[in-house]
Amino acid sequence: MKIGIIGAGNIGTTLARKLAACGHEVKLANSKGPQSIQSLANEISVNAVTKEDAVSGVDVVILSIPFANYPDLKQTLADVPEKTVVIDTSNYYPGRDGTIKEVDEGKPESVWVSEQIGRPVVKAWNAVLAATLANKGAPAESSTRIAIPVAGNDPHAEALAQDLVEDTGFTALAADSLEDSWRQQPGTPAYCTELTLPELKAALNAADKSRAPQNRDALIEKFMAPGSQFTHEQIVATNRAMTA
Ligand SMILES: NC(=O)c1ccc[n+]([C@@H]2O[C@H](COP(=O)([O-])OP(=O)(O)OC[C@H]3O[C@@H](n4cnc5c(N)ncnc54)[C@H](OP(=O)(O)O)[C@@H]3O)[C@@H](O)[C@H]2O)c1
Repeated sequence: MKIGIIGAGNIGTTLARKLAACGHEVKLANSKGPQSIQSLANEISVNAVTKEDAVSGVDVVILSIPFANYPDLKQTLADVPEKTVVIDTSNYYPGRDGTIKEVDEGKPESVWVSEQIGRPVVKAWNAVLAATLANKGAPAESSTRIAIPVAGNDPHAEALAQDLVEDTGFTALAADSLEDSWRQQPGTPAYCTELTLPELKAALNAADKSRAPQNRDALIEKFMAPGSQFTHEQIVATNRAMTA
């Protein structure tokens, strides 16, 4: 498949590396321009390109940039054919992204993203830590394989995103519509808690929309407290405990 990824950070680069390793043809872009990621691209066998090139002539576009920057991409995506599937990996953290009133008032994050960029999206890979994505993929037959929720409104686009999630070493769970994708946002039991498929189904069902933002902010405060040091396993355990 031909894939364009915008965002060459923790998530975008890991996705690029994994998807290229599966045989997909991957183009990778950031904001600074292709030269700034040329050696990285060579290392992971992808093409470093401009944003405009990343969305041209591809089957799928994956957007993996900071939440508040999504409005920047409206123009970039303006001429992309409708049939091109757009996947959004983002999460909203007001401390990092600034206050976005509509999202604070309850609009699901990927619904806001979709409105900002002017086209439908599928939400995937948002609920997995970068280190989990990089290091904890497993073969499909593994009984402890971690599952990732995939939410969207178009069955074809969702199915394609699910296939790509599987390619990255995780079980794809078809979650609900984009309007219900708050169930996999920060502060919910499904978010960055490394669950198997049955556990993830239960976690999505147990999500409490009113509690999630408080959980999100309390977790960030804990992780960012001066002098605090958490191992990866401790981060996952803390996420589980505080969202249970
Ligand atoms: N980190 C995680 O554990 C994690 C897990 C799940 C989901 N997410 C979400 O996934 C998204 C990406 O996270 P990340 O940790 O990978 O971020 P990151 O490491 O900070 O990387 C962000 C990337 O986006 C690029 N970028 C920023 N603004 C851009 C623009 N207007 N146009 C094109 N490229 C732009 C940056 O390029 P330059 O460096 O050139 O500016 C950089 O390559 C975020 O929404 C985040 O919430 C993160």
